[in-house]
This record gives sequence, C-alpha cells and structure tokens, in this order.
Amino acid sequence: MGRRGHEHAPFAASGDGCFIVDTEGRRYLDASGGPAVSCLGHSNRTVAAAVAAQLDAIAFPYSGFFTTEAAEELARRLAAAAPGRLDRVYFVSGGSEAVESAIKAARQYFVERGDPRRRHVIARRQSYHGNTLGALAAGGNVARRAPYHPLLVENSHIAPCYEYRHRCEDETSEAYGRRVADELEAEIVRLGRDTVMAFLVEPVVGATLGAVPAVDGYFRRIREICDRHGILLILDEVMCGMGRTGTLFASEHDGIAPDIVCLAKGLGAGYQPLGAMICTDIIHDTILDGSGFFQHGHTYQGHPMAVAAGLAVLDELTRHDLIERAATMGRVLEDHLRERFGDHPNVGDIRGRGMFWGLEFVADRDTKEPFAPEAQVAARLKDVAQANGLLCYPSAGTADGARGDHVIIAPPYIITESEIELACDLLARSLDETLTANPV
Ligand SMILES: Cc1ncc(COP(=O)(O)O)c(C=O)c1O
Repeated sequence: MGRRGHEHAPFAASGDGCFIVDTEGRRYLDASGGPAVSCLGHSNRTVAAAVAAQLDAIAFPYSGFFTTEAAEELARRLAAAAPGRLDRVYFVSGGSEAVESAIKAARQYFVERGDPRRRHVIARRQSYHGNTLGALAAGGNVARRAPYHPLLVENSHIAPCYEYRHRCEDETSEAYGRRVADELEAEIVRLGRDTVMAFLVEPVVGATLGAVPAVDGYFRRIREICDRHGILLILDEVMCGMGRTGTLFASEHDGIAPDIVCLAKGLGAGYQPLGAMICTDIIHDTILDGSGFFQHGHTYQGHPMAVAAGLAVLDELTRHDLIERAATMGRVLEDHLRERFGDHPNVGDIRGRGMFWGLEFVADRDTKEPFAPEAQVAARLKDVAQANGLLCYPSAGTADGARGDHVIIAPPYIITESEIELACDLLARSLDETLTANPV
C-alpha cells in the first residue's frame, strides 16, 4: 500500500548525487533528502559497498546470540563523539523505535532505582516523535494523533519554543525562551514532582513546525529544570541530528547534554533503515546492576547490514569533512533562501540551521494569517514541485496544528552552490504556480 491509495508515484530507477532518476529518465533534485534522510546523496558507492560486503559475509547473525564488528565500532565512535555521559548505544531500525526505546529505558531506570511512581513523559505541542503508539502519544502533532486518540496513553504537552508566532512584541528572545521553558517547571509541579520521568523534545523541530530551532538559552534553562527535579532530558535528534544542523549532535549548538538522545534518518542516510538510542552510563548501569536486562527488544535491532551502513556513513561524514560542509554550505543555502524568498509576500518566516531550513507560508505577512486549510498549499506545493523536478518536504498545520503551511529544505550535505541555486529557482517557480493556481 502506498502512502496515499490514489497516488501514482513515479518509479525511482537510480540515484545520481543529489538527484533521483525515474524509469522515464526524468531527474529530480532532492532538496530535502526525502524527509531529511539522505545526507550523502543517492549514489555513495562506499556505503553501498560496505552494505554489500556485510551481506557477502553474513546477513543476519541474530543480536540475541552475536554482536558484530560494525555494531561495536559504530557504538564506540558514536559514544566517543556524543556529549556528556552519553556512552551506551542501542541500535534499532528507525526513529519511532529509537523513541520507544528511550521512553522505556527512562521508565525502567526509575523502576530499577526504586522510584516506580515516576511515569509521566512531558513533551511539547507541535512536535513529532514517531508513529508507533508510545511515540505518537508522546508527540504533539495534531493531525497524526487524531484518528488514534482513544488508543494513546495520556501525556502532557507544554508550549513549543516557536519565536515567529509566540514571542510577544515587547519581549526579548531571551525572556521569551525563559517564559516557555518555565512551562516545564509548572507542568512538573502540576503533575506532581515525583511522578514525572522525562521531558522529550526535538532540539530543532522538524516535520511539525518546519525546522524551528529554540532561542538561545532555552535549552540551558530546560536542562536546569530537569536537573532540579531529577527528571531525564530526552532529545529527539532523529531528524536534526547526524550533522544536519552543522554539528554531529544538534544539542552541541545549545551547549547542553541530554540523558538520552535518539538518532535515525541521517545515521543510515537512507542506505539502510537504522536508528539508535544513546543513554548515559548512569541509566545503563542502573538497569545492569538492577535486573540486569533492558526489558525491550526487536528482532532486527542492530541488524548487521544496517550498522555496516551506519559505520560507513559516519566514515564518509568524517573523511570528507561533511559536517563542516553542512555548516558552511548551510550558510550559502541560507543566503540564497533569504535573497530569493526574504521579500516574498507569502513567505512569513525563514528559519533553520546548517542544512535544515524551513519556509513558513502565510496569506498575509503583516498579520501572519495562514492560508485556509482547504487551499492545501503544502500538499499542492509538493506535487507541483515534483512535477517541476524538485523534491521538497512540505507540511500543514504549522501555525496551530490545523492551519498553516511550511516547506522543509534539507538537502544532502554534498550539495553544490549551483544545485542550491537550481533548488531555489525550482522552489520559487513551484510556489508561484501553486499560489496562482488557487489564489486564496
Ligand atoms: C523528530 C522525529 N522523531 C521521530 C521520527 C520517527 O522516525 P521514523 O519515521 O524513522 O520511525 C521522525 C520521523 O520523521 C522525526 O522527524
């Protein structure tokens, strides 16, 4: 079953750097790496060879019986690079599994510590943490939650840090950040200090808000509040991690270390489905010295071909200085986006970091009034852009869960300046075609 029953998607035939070629020979510039996945582009032979070599050697020694060189080496390298005491790596097959594993690790940690009353996860409105029921319940994406609402365990949601819409006019960025961070403390007190186990948050909000970083100081305040109340800080870097924002871990920019971080997308770069949950040695040792066993698991966790791909991806990122490149070419991308769309009457905000940018569309720049949801600006933009040979990642519900539209531009880190120019040309053309086809 495809993503939409009625859709006739083109058949992808091959990859060529930042382009995907279909079976008719049409070329599409992938300016979003799918959903911010393909950080190395679509034809990296080194990663493909690493996967093939692992398949040649052995496809599936079950992780209940064996580990592999690739899994151990990738875990060592991630732990060495990760901030703070993030030392223990648990490989899974994608972002939702990473988030499920994080929530369960947090819960088991408190149970093993003799603190079983701690059961609440606090997250934020306008967030997304995955589509499995635990991760979906934690997230605050209105549309994705809606049909499953009766199945979702209760979680609480505080405000996102979304300066474009929520900072008051007479408020500094810093004061705004502090005000919204302090909602966490109020929510902890409301729920009962010793019943909360974790705060789960995306350092740069991806699909739901469109590449929205927090204001400076927000995360330092969040870290302080978590520490004060003994709750774990779980960062969901599934979309924004692995160099996407110009540092290997997105939290490096905020100068804080979480207790657990979730990775996926760029970790396997699309060459294999791979996710990871990395926790501190404290959490790991509490479980190990308690029952001795993390009461969780999936058949394919640590799949050798997936971790072989992940190791080769990290090698490629390091060998070709691609994370620095994401930072420097990210500034080039930002310049082009601002030059091209900064004065566009229907682009209300341009925000992001590194190779992760969002453009929020509005019917009126002065009032920030979104387009009517029936105009389906995001959905139509995706189709128009693809017909024009551009792949970008639009979503709706940006402003309040129901109204608003944005597009994410998150290209492979190997993108060149001329490809950035082409992406901006195609996006500008596609946006204008979308808006003139159905002026609202
Ligand atoms: C921030 C974030 N967390 C979790 C997920 C879920 O990852 P997956 O689709 O690999 O299960 C996503 C996917 O878009 C995401 O963006």
